[in-house]
Amino acid sequence: MKKQLAYSLCVAMTITAGTVMAADKLQGKAKAAMCAGCHRLSGIGLSDEFPNLAGQKPAYLIKQLTAFKTGTRKNPTMNAMAASLNNADIQNLATYYASLPTTTTNAVIKQEKAIASLPLSTKANVKAFPPTAYVSMKKSASIETLPQQTSWKGGPNMLYDALTPNGKRLLSTSPSTNTVYIFATATGKQLAVIPVGKAPKGVKVTPDGQFAYVSNQGSASISVVDLKRLAVVDSIKVKPGPHNVRFTRNGKRAYVTLQGGAGLGVIDTATRKLIRVIALPGITGPHNLDLSADEKTAFVRDFVHHVAVVELATGKLKKVITVGNGHGGIDVTPDGRYAITGAIGDDFISIINTRTLAVTNIKVGNGPHGVRASLDSHWAYVTLTKDNAVAVINLQTVQLEQKIAVGKFPFWVAVQGNP
Ligand code: HEC
Repeated sequence: MKKQLAYSLCVAMTITAGTVMAADKLQGKAKAAMCAGCHRLSGIGLSDEFPNLAGQKPAYLIKQLTAFKTGTRKNPTMNAMAASLNNADIQNLATYYASLPTTTTNAVIKQEKAIASLPLSTKANVKAFPPTAYVSMKKSASIETLPQQTSWKGGPNMLYDALTPNGKRLLSTSPSTNTVYIFATATGKQLAVIPVGKAPKGVKVTPDGQFAYVSNQGSASISVVDLKRLAVVDSIKVKPGPHNVRFTRNGKRAYVTLQGGAGLGVIDTATRKLIRVIALPGITGPHNLDLSADEKTAFVRDFVHHVAVVELATGKLKKVITVGNGHGGIDVTPDGRYAITGAIGDDFISIINTRTLAVTNIKVGNGPHGVRASLDSHWAYVTLTKDNAVAVINLQTVQLEQKIAVGKFPFWVAVQGNP
């Protein structure tokens, strides 16, 4: 008799506990409306300062909320929030948050998943990104924007891309169709597909935003595209294998890498003539380039594993630096401190101190090629062609901050203000 009573009491208690649990969650959800402004209804903190509550252990949540309420844990906001909660509210809220999945499907969380394998931060801090970065996808024939992660349809083998100085147009080359695509950045719409020379590679826009120079690697020429008329208006004859161009800030000169081996070409943009070629013995196939902040020195990345440092006035080769294997992009950060280069056959980038020419290699992932720093020189984007991801480097700490999954074979990246 005694035993039976104990048994039915036990059953009754279990049932009661079960029903209370279900009710708790709903009541907790209702209460959580007052917390959503910071912790979201999904329990994923709105930004870095607000902790995630989703999936947290209920006992821990109860302990923290009680500690905020009694003041043993101090935080003015949370002390005020918890003051209005009674014990039942606290239990209900804890049950509710504990029941939520730790990930949701919104874009921020999608990025977080993509970077789960990362060394440092585990969260994509959207606020920390420079304005938009535009990544060209060789094998998905598209452009992707970061951090928004929109995708625009482009052409086959989409390779290099560049922005107009006002950021309104994006140009991208498609060497298998011998064309350059022009997009409106506001909508991602194709405005024009313009036939150029053979195997167009690098594309750059003049500082006044009027023309684009497209390096036709297969026809030893540069097509000059008028960006108002959206048509080719001139062709500049150069030496074999022009790959990419860099304009001086005043727009008077364009330096062009001549991958056929001639060296670094100098174009007078007023006459549209090749006026000089600086020979670069010691490097193999000049591929990409950038200039120092004072524009007196060029950093030329070759096709193999070198960067040539060239004094432009004299044509003197100051140094040949060994970097990672295979070709890659190169970018001098807008503050002039670093020249950063990828290496498609390796898993690291090389960060060259432009003053001392000392090199720091950092592992970023497989097949790093395109490199661009943000205008404030705080961040650098690196396309990882073999990982289908973009690495974000924090240039303040010189460390890999995160990786973001993108389409297939991200090749190049364009950032406004850093041509
Ligand atoms: C105005 C913003 C804001 C609101 C609204 C808010 N919180 Fe918080 N919450 C915070 C901040 C900020 C912290 C971090 C406090 C700290 O650093 O100690 C926090 C921390 C917490 C923690 C501790 C998490 C941990 O891991 O230690 C819990 C639990 C919590 N909040 C629950 C709630 C609940 C439940 C509500 C609604 C009743 C709520 N919060 C409303 C801003 C807010």
